[in-house]
Amino acid sequence: MDLLAIEQLEKDCFPEEAFHRRLIKNLLINPKSIVIKAATPSGKIIGNIIGITKKENNLLAGRIYSLCVLGKYREKGIATRLVQLMEDEFSLNGIKKIKLEVSTSNTVAQRFYKQLGYSMSAIVLPGFYNDGTDALVMIKCLPLNYTDNYYTPF
Ligand SMILES: CC(C)(COP(=O)(O)OP(=O)(O)OC[C@H]1O[C@@H](n2cnc3c(N)ncnc32)[C@H](O)[C@@H]1OP(=O)(O)O)[C@@H](O)C(=O)NCCC(=O)NCCS
Repeated sequence: MDLLAIEQLEKDCFPEEAFHRRLIKNLLINPKSIVIKAATPSGKIIGNIIGITKKENNLLAGRIYSLCVLGKYREKGIATRLVQLMEDEFSLNGIKKIKLEVSTSNTVAQRFYKQLGYSMSAIVLPGFYNDGTDALVMIKCLPLNYTDNYYTPF
């Protein structure tokens, strides 16, 4: 059920770049990945975020692999909440550094992540996307006392 809904969501949000079903399936069963969905009260999936944990220089790091919210539901704070929940999950896994790639042409996403405390690194990944555009790498280091805030109600 999640597989088909996430596949459709990916197609709607990234017409040129949607994840294939097999990759989504692998992400759903991979113990190193974290998938968080946003749904309406009736259960319709309207957004999701996929994160992966990986070892980097002997330290666990987090990577935001995909984030999307259906057009009709955007600019309501849903993606902000999904990123916050992902940061909580990463933090509970002992992760302090989060990375993600964003297209040079996706200024909305760049602005979105900047507002959430992600900084643009100097790293550029040439031709990272299927349409040939480069990716920029954004990074956030979670504060050391991050988990102190974990139970703050929202
Ligand atoms: C980027 C995306 C996930 C944002 O989702 P969202 O639920 O609309 O985001 P939020 O409502 O939480 O927005 C938070 C902030 O991001 C910025 N933002 C979001 N959408 C914006 C837009 N269309 N134009 C300008 N700023 C925008 C604003 O600063 C906003 O804060 P504000 O509401 O206080 O002004 C969504 O536009 C999307 O799915 N885009 C297509 C897929 C994509 O680009 N994913 C990211 C790939 S790296």
